[in-house]
Amino acid sequence: MKRFSTLLRVTTLATLLGTALTLATAAQQAAKVDPKIVDAYIKGTWKSPPEGWQVRIDQDETQRVCSAYRNDPPTAEFEKIRARELATVVFPADGTVLGDWKAGERVAQTGVGGQFSDAPGTVAGGNCYACHQMAKAELSYGTLGPSLLEYGKIRKFDAAESKQAYAKIFNAQSVQPCSNMPRFGYHKFLTEQQMKDVTAYLMSPDSPVNK
Ligand code: HEC
Repeated sequence: MKRFSTLLRVTTLATLLGTALTLATAAQQAAKVDPKIVDAYIKGTWKSPPEGWQVRIDQDETQRVCSAYRNDPPTAEFEKIRARELATVVFPADGTVLGDWKAGERVAQTGVGGQFSDAPGTVAGGNCYACHQMAKAELSYGTLGPSLLEYGKIRKFDAAESKQAYAKIFNAQSVQPCSNMPRFGYHKFLTEQQMKDVTAYLMSPDSPVNK
């Protein structure tokens, strides 16, 4: 009986060791997944994507660097990204970054556009409320980004701050490399007028954001 239970213990130990080894091997394999397999999997996820959709999942240089450093690049890379992204920002030719805050409110509230299910010609929105609190009266908002309540008021409706807000909306990574915020102008997702309008929504003294 004693021999039997010793045998049992040895067997249990062997099983445990075996499991630990299997887990270690699995972890090693997981770390070594071929990116081509991941790409093929992602590409196979959509059944009937529209024409030209593949470019939307191809990473640009900035996204590649951010992925490589898990969104936490060392200072030198961080500065390189910021300079590169800042160089893409195009300010409005007429010299004013402030449009109509009322139109900007609609841009901030609208989440359609860019989805495979959108009807052709759908005007895209900025979906800012998905990530930010903005006006006090709006009860539904996401919290991935910071609250933008009283954004202009806090910045004393300063002209340089308005320009900075426009640049942020045009290309969030020109301010904060590896940001989770979409690059609305860089990707031509919003028009110049829409970006001006949403800048006014943030920076105008009349906007509900600043009330
Ligand atoms: C997918 C989420 C997401 C969406 C959508 C989004 N943002 Fe952001 N935003 C963020 C995050 C995260 C930050 C903080 C990191 C950073 O500064 O990039 C941020 C930061 C900002 C800042 C800087 C805040 C500061 O402290 O100075 C502004 C301004 C801003 N967003 C405006 C907007 C506007 C306007 C829109 C819509 C056109 C928008 N965001 C849409 C995620 C988002």
